[in-house]
Amino acid sequence: MTNQIPKRINKFIEFTKSLEGYEKGEAQTFLNRLFHAFGHADCHEAGAIFEKRTKVGKKTKFEDLLLPGKVIVEMKSRGKELQSHILQAREYWNNSYGNEKTPFVVLCNFEQFWIFNWFMQDAPLDKVNTEDLETRWRALAFLAKYPIEPIFANNVEQVTKEAVEKLLQIYHSLLKREEDKNKVQKFILQLLVCLFAEDIGLFPIDGYFLELIQDCKKNHSTYDLFTALFRQMNSQERAKGGKFKDVRYFNGGIFKEINPLELNAYELNLLEKTAQFDWSKVEPAIFGNIFEYSMGSSEQHATGAHYTYEQDIMKIIRPTIIQPIIEQIKQAQTLEKLLKLREELGKIKVLDPACGSGNFLYVALRELKNLELEILSKIQKNFLSYHIQDVYSVVQMNQFYGIDINQFAVELAKVTLSFGKKIFNDLFLEYIKKHQLSFHFEDQTLPFDDLDNNIIANDALFCKWPSADFIIGNPPFLGGKYLRVERGDEYAEKIYASFPGSKGQPDYCVFWFQKAHNSSAKRIGLVGTNSIAQGVSRTASLEYITTNKGIIINAVATQVWSGTANVHVSIVNWVKRNPPASIYLDAKKVNHINSSLKAEADYSGAKKIPENLNKSFEGCQLAGKGFIISAKTANTWIKANQNNKNVLKAMIDGKALVSPSVELDWVIDFNEMSLEEASTYELPFEHVKTSVKPERMLNKEKRRKENWWLFGRTRPNMRKALKGLKSYFCLPKVAKYTCFRSIDISILPCEANMVIASDDFFILGILNSKLHLDWVLAQSSTLKSDTRYTNTTCFMTFPFPDNVKSPKKQKVRSLMTELENFRKKEAISRHCTITTFYNNFFHEPSSNLFQLHLKLDKVVCDCYGWKYSQAKSYNDEIFELNAEKTKGLK
Ligand SMILES: C[S@@+](CC[C@H](N)C(=O)[O-])C[C@H]1O[C@@H](n2cnc3c(N)ncnc32)[C@H](O)[C@@H]1O
Repeated sequence: MTNQIPKRINKFIEFTKSLEGYEKGEAQTFLNRLFHAFGHADCHEAGAIFEKRTKVGKKTKFEDLLLPGKVIVEMKSRGKELQSHILQAREYWNNSYGNEKTPFVVLCNFEQFWIFNWFMQDAPLDKVNTEDLETRWRALAFLAKYPIEPIFANNVEQVTKEAVEKLLQIYHSLLKREEDKNKVQKFILQLLVCLFAEDIGLFPIDGYFLELIQDCKKNHSTYDLFTALFRQMNSQERAKGGKFKDVRYFNGGIFKEINPLELNAYELNLLEKTAQFDWSKVEPAIFGNIFEYSMGSSEQHATGAHYTYEQDIMKIIRPTIIQPIIEQIKQAQTLEKLLKLREELGKIKVLDPACGSGNFLYVALRELKNLELEILSKIQKNFLSYHIQDVYSVVQMNQFYGIDINQFAVELAKVTLSFGKKIFNDLFLEYIKKHQLSFHFEDQTLPFDDLDNNIIANDALFCKWPSADFIIGNPPFLGGKYLRVERGDEYAEKIYASFPGSKGQPDYCVFWFQKAHNSSAKRIGLVGTNSIAQGVSRTASLEYITTNKGIIINAVATQVWSGTANVHVSIVNWVKRNPPASIYLDAKKVNHINSSLKAEADYSGAKKIPENLNKSFEGCQLAGKGFIISAKTANTWIKANQNNKNVLKAMIDGKALVSPSVELDWVIDFNEMSLEEASTYELPFEHVKTSVKPERMLNKEKRRKENWWLFGRTRPNMRKALKGLKSYFCLPKVAKYTCFRSIDISILPCEANMVIASDDFFILGILNSKLHLDWVLAQSSTLKSDTRYTNTTCFMTFPFPDNVKSPKKQKVRSLMTELENFRKKEAISRHCTITTFYNNFFHEPSSNLFQLHLKLDKVVCDCYGWKYSQAKSYNDEIFELNAEKTKGLK
């Protein structure tokens, strides 16, 4: 199929010559033929939609073509310039959601294609002439019927990964020779500076560094030559003659420590090739990210390495830093005010307290420079006769601060920012020239600024932060349970003792939220794992902020994070005073954002109701897969000794709970037995000794290590509450549907499940009704697209109705029994999960499932004495009832 494409493309090129190129009349024909060239019958067959209606603000506009999940195409008449239409296309794209927010956007004027991916980079990935498509069609390969990897001429990601790979090969080769890792890292950074410097014009002549490498290949050694070069780059005194004459003073702390290294022939060849590569095309911000990530692996290439998309970084920098300053620029109408604003811009301090290789600071530097240009342009436009006296940009490197625990990341961040200085100064100058601003800009790139006191290696949780106006960044995510495992008991305890709200082990990142909020910064924007809007992590982060006068002004409730594989994050920007007039959640204007990152009324003030306490529990946490055995093994052991029955139980986990047809696993449950007592159950005990103990011995948590024969959490309170019941109610903690099921008391609920200690189907009916589900949605938060049920906020705050007459209760019980039997039977007979069954029928009004739920909802509503409406949420009523039941409680 692929080899057909060039032939068809040729025909397409020929065909386009016959078109006059009217946007209105010929665009669809042109696109149909283009899609045909890529193997489709036409656009329609490919699944594309012409004239896709879209909303931009209050206006309805039409995209010329949308291929959902792939591309938006915007056509212009033949030869029309495309630059001024980027904004319009971007607006369409910004306003689209889901599958309509396509990775690619194409602007085309019949003669040229400009291809964008705004998830990744601002600049076009490629600009291809229609007549060159025969050789360049791979730039549009995402249109192909069968998948073909596109190739773009200006794909910053591809170019940067190539550059990383080249340096990585040298790095790994040096490590293989058992050179000291720290020395090698320093040396590689120094090489990196030389490689960039060569291609952005910081060495005396073009090809200067390449020549040095070639000299080394001939008869010199890198040990001598590079050491001498690095020394010269660190010297304020210029060499008067010789090889290093005219090499300038770089400083920047990068060449302070020089560790001579001898490259062998293989490494020199690699370095020669690396120097021939065009480093000016590499993006410093993502280079650091990919390089740092790839170094950790033994792999010699960067394929698959993740980096943070600029688009994501801007979700912090735009609302937290840019927008308030833009507002001030808009409002400033006098020359004095504009000059003052510019002066203030030069005093702003920005801190990233988990800066990694400096990507957030790099983008912040660029944006502050852009804001200065915005002010200069306004001065020029409105006060023509005014001449700006000084020759420097007011935005300087010493305004940017970073902290990271990783020393190498800190060094990389300094290099990244130093390149930023050069690159943004060049762009600054270009802008001044293009717009003929009366400003004689002479900012010097060299020497680089010494950033040793700005970007420091330290533990941000336990060091003093420099005072800053803005705090930005994405602190590390580490689930509370893993903190002990990864960092040890001592460190975890130190954190819990130092920060409030640590109970329940919140995520590691929440402590950055607290420390940032307690700092002197006026505006803060941080990325956190999306658990910061849920449960204990929410209490220790967003709730801490909102109850301490913080106002969330712009947030993304949950999204996949570009920097790390498969991590779902929340992005939160907040202020301590003067919130802006408009507040945005998930790019939509809202009145208020609560600490669960929801726009609806804030129910986070709901209190725990006394009668609901000690009834909801998390299932047993095994902390050792070795506790699990098959049903067959369990039966064999029971046959061998009937006593084993006491410690062998069927177990239900999250998966089994939604799959009624699967056979349950069993577990060895010594509950709270002493070691001596447990050892009397010989077969199970020996199994735990060999299958669990070795793993537990490596556990950093003392309690787990010493009590290796017991579950990680045995849940004594739950067992007490379940005593005497015939069954209990159970729900996976994270699930698409909040579907409580009734489970026989002989079965042990494990880990992923939430347990309610009751066997009354009246309670089960209420838990499965719309009233509870709506409350759960408002109180819980989503993990990926599923709902996380947190008992403290969902169950303990939920008021059950009082004084319900027996016949009504009975009605709920019998409907719930019918529903439970029905969905279980259907899932078993279809060999599917209850989730799949719900996916297929829960939203179908005429299905039996829908009707049963409807009946149940009506009866439950009646038990509360409220009139039923399918469209209504009863959360306000539930909240009021909660307030009644908790009156006077703290
Ligand atoms: C998610 S990364 C963010 C870095 C960068 N902004 C990015 O996008 O890659 C988190 C950073 O926090 C750093 N870190 C982890 N624990 C830290 C601590 N206690 N103090 C300071 N930095 C820490 C890690 O080294 C890492 O560079």
